[in-house]
Amino acid sequence: MSRALICGSMAYDTIMVFEDQFKNHILPNKVHMLNVSFLVPQMRREFGGCAGNIAYNLKLLGGHPIPMATVGQDFAPYREWFRSHAITLDHVREVPDTFTAQAFITTDQDNNQITAFHPGAMGCSQQNKVGDVSGVALGIVAPDGRDGMLQHARDFAAQGTPFIFDPGQAMPLFNGEEFRAFIEQADYVAANSYEASLLTERTGWSEIEIAAKVKAYIVTRGADGSIIHAGGKVHVIPSARPAAVVDPTGCGDAYRAGLLHGLLQGFDWPTTGRIASLMGALKIARPGTQNHGFTTDEFAVEYRRQFDRTLD
Ligand SMILES: Nc1ncnc2c1ncn2[C@@H]1O[C@H](COP(=O)(O)OP(=O)(O)OP(=O)(O)O)[C@@H](O)[C@H]1O
Ligand SMILES: [Mg+2]
Repeated sequence: MSRALICGSMAYDTIMVFEDQFKNHILPNKVHMLNVSFLVPQMRREFGGCAGNIAYNLKLLGGHPIPMATVGQDFAPYREWFRSHAITLDHVREVPDTFTAQAFITTDQDNNQITAFHPGAMGCSQQNKVGDVSGVALGIVAPDGRDGMLQHARDFAAQGTPFIFDPGQAMPLFNGEEFRAFIEQADYVAANSYEASLLTERTGWSEIEIAAKVKAYIVTRGADGSIIHAGGKVHVIPSARPAAVVDPTGCGDAYRAGLLHGLLQGFDWPTTGRIASLMGALKIARPGTQNHGFTTDEFAVEYRRQFDRTLD
């Protein structure tokens, strides 16, 4: 059984829709004494966080994800959700007197957003140790508390477990020296094109130089697909055609689950990249980050339909 250890956040996203425009309620000459209240008749709460999303997607692919995260006293609904999907919670630690990380997002009719993010228990992620989990074939260090990310990467490298470094929204937390250390420790690095240009800026290393330090450097480019630099080769991975473009949030996490799955199955890069690509396209057709679903047979059929080749 090829188990994947997925270090990162587990979070709630509360999304509220203000059926008007913020600009009608925020007076530019009064912003120094802002005191506004928005009535939001629509509200939904989604299960999210990078580790949660990646684990959910890898489970859909038939994999064995082990999320490793710190959560708070309000975790019960999320726990039920993962139980119903038979995803292990053995390494999801509840930290007393904290809340699970959560974002409160208010969107208006112009698609402007006002967000508050409470990191909560995520800031304790260093309490979990990757060495406590046995039989791990592959890991990922996804966005999480700063100390936890540094420690988990160091520990994976020290114990010789291959892992993907996935800086994502945690890009602002680290300096050039820290990023250089992460890349030296990691076997794979995955970033979107914006994060990739920041990585180059911070480390002073070009995309080619970063690629030379890992087994693969994967750069995703939204609807334009992705590029995988591996073994001196550049694999251009096409995007898949989504049934609808509903919500791009979480495409990156869905893609990373595809990477983990392909690597664990020993597929070549063109295949692994296409699995990841299809995961992004299946995700984008549904709102939220964990509301899409399929069987592994349905996935194989869709893979053949999209790329005109079989998955085996
Ligand atoms: N509009 C789209 N059509 C088809 N595939 C898409 C689309 N957007 C994203 N994808 C797929 O998902 C992958 C990851 O998307 P993207 O590069 O936008 O990641 P990201 O910016 O990290 O996303 P996130 O919002 O989840 O952080 C892409 O490489 C692509 O394969
Ligand atoms: Mg991303």
